[in-house]
Amino acid sequence: MISLGLLVIVAAASAADVNNIEQLQAAKNSQLITLRNINVPAGVTLNLDKLKPGTVVEFAGEITFGYKEWEGPLIIVGGKNIKVVGKPGNLINCQGERWWDQKGGNGGKKKPKFFAARLTDSSIDGLNIKNIPAHGFSINSCKNLAISRINLNVAEGHTKGGHNTDGFDVGNSEKISIINSFIHNQDDCLAINSGTDIKFEGNTCIGGHGISIGSVGGRKNNIVQNVRVVRSKVIDSDNGIRIKTVKGATGAVKDITFDDIELKNIAKRGIVIQGNYLNKRPEGDPTGGVPITGLTINNVRGNVLKGGANVYVWVANASNWKWNGIKVAGGQKVMEQKGLPQGCKW
Ligand SMILES: *[C@@H]1O[C@H](CO)[C@@H](O)[C@H](O)[C@H]1NC(C)=O
Repeated sequence: MISLGLLVIVAAASAADVNNIEQLQAAKNSQLITLRNINVPAGVTLNLDKLKPGTVVEFAGEITFGYKEWEGPLIIVGGKNIKVVGKPGNLINCQGERWWDQKGGNGGKKKPKFFAARLTDSSIDGLNIKNIPAHGFSINSCKNLAISRINLNVAEGHTKGGHNTDGFDVGNSEKISIINSFIHNQDDCLAINSGTDIKFEGNTCIGGHGISIGSVGGRKNNIVQNVRVVRSKVIDSDNGIRIKTVKGATGAVKDITFDDIELKNIAKRGIVIQGNYLNKRPEGDPTGGVPITGLTINNVRGNVLKGGANVYVWVANASNWKWNGIKVAGGQKVMEQKGLPQGCKW
């Protein structure tokens, strides 16, 4: 029995270098998989799903993808106790400009999603990513996943037609952290549709729609609970921090903290909390089926551009909000504040 156990350990401790997609399947038996300078063929997913527990995946050199109009994802990583590591100088170059047509996920060319995470007790660290075709990281049904030092650079999307290039979309997940990352894109930096125990800390968001919870409601899981967004910056973006809930839907947004957030040159709204989303846009009076309770906003500071509003609130059925140290200025658009819980002032 003992010698058999040793044999298994020796076999599992192997390492595999992968330089083309044909080598990937066999490499999945290894404990260390190093992906280096791969050109993934058009319409094929770089499939790292169902990895063995304990696998380390390294991204090295430049990873590129062939062009096809399809849904993707370009990369999927799944398993338990998995470490995804970007080696120094790594670049996942999606060359999204080949798909960009200003329509994002709303039409035009069909654009592959970038990265699907299906991970438990795992980490992703140090990936450099350029020009995703549309949506970035899809974190769905993940549990205990730590994401750090991601550099998602879609700056070229501003002039070349990038749209819906979300940074991190989180749904139905728990214990997720996203820290010390840099996101320059054309949609939400972070969007949480559902999930619990989510931390977003030490990140810089540039060019997009800001840090968002929602829209919440109308999906299978409609609970967002215990989210901490701290020590982060939102620069040259449409919104700073935002919560959106769906009109007529049910669910809950509770125990949310935004603390130590720096805003710079926000075009539309510095802080926006609204409960009347319908068909992806605000419409009429909010309903109270997705109450926002326990909302702490602390030390949010910075400037909104002239045409924008510093703070916008329109919700129903909200309670227990604590706002302190809000110094958002510059926006001249005056918005009515509706549905603010009693005693909430800033
Ligand atoms: C307000 O929220 C509570 C839960 O906190 C819920 O029971 C109630 O139905 C909601 N009210 C409305 C008008 O939706």
